[in-house]
Amino acid sequence: MAQRRHLVAGNWKMNGLRAEAERLAGDLAARARTAAGGCDMLVCPPATVLAAVGAVLGGSGIALGGQDCHAAEKGAFTGDVSAEMLKDAGCSFVILGHSERRHGHGETDAEVRAKVAAAWRAGLAAIVCVGETREQREAGTALAVVSAQLAGSVPEAASAANLVVAYEPVWAIGTGLTPTLGDIAEIHGGIRARVAAGTRVLYGGSVNPGNARDILALPDVAGALVGGASLKAEDFWAIAQACG
Ligand code: 13P
Repeated sequence: MAQRRHLVAGNWKMNGLRAEAERLAGDLAARARTAAGGCDMLVCPPATVLAAVGAVLGGSGIALGGQDCHAAEKGAFTGDVSAEMLKDAGCSFVILGHSERRHGHGETDAEVRAKVAAAWRAGLAAIVCVGETREQREAGTALAVVSAQLAGSVPEAASAANLVVAYEPVWAIGTGLTPTLGDIAEIHGGIRARVAAGTRVLYGGSVNPGNARDILALPDVAGALVGGASLKAEDFWAIAQACG
């Protein structure tokens, strides 16, 4: 199988009123239209600005994604957003099982798995997040935790086309801390052995323009899922450029 391009994805989390979201997307789109990118780029803004951001990104080659979805197609689920709605808003990806959903909202592997199936039903690729806590890393169980999350969260029909995995150690998210390159390489190697050939495995957790090049150069790292640094066009662009 041909090697897929790296994917650099921005998870804006709960940040971005319309004017600033359009400004950020517009800045990225202008850069993408004028410079040849060495990687695929994706932004995942809050649901309220998906349509506005999608309009600004039009023709730039930067893809649009959601941050979560409900497992059902529609119905009496106040406040939720379905995968079909994300698709309808212009998305081609959705982030699922982020640690802020698993730990902040008590999402289980089974729930994540149902959401992944929903994403595929709607024609979206799922970015499934996995990662250990600080305690689990110190106990030496990081790879076991990540393997169990993968086994529980990813349905049988996974392929390189419909699945992206993001390894995001919980303790590295928003903290400025990152695992050693050796630790990232070990977990990514373990994930690679458990998914279909060609599936992109991203690293996420305090990626910034200063550490991106070394992380993205690791053989089993096929991109990055970026939080805080994706809110600054210059930083996010620099990370994308670091794909080499
Ligand atoms: P930070 O890049 O802010 O650490 O966030 C990572 C993340 O959670 C991306 O999904």
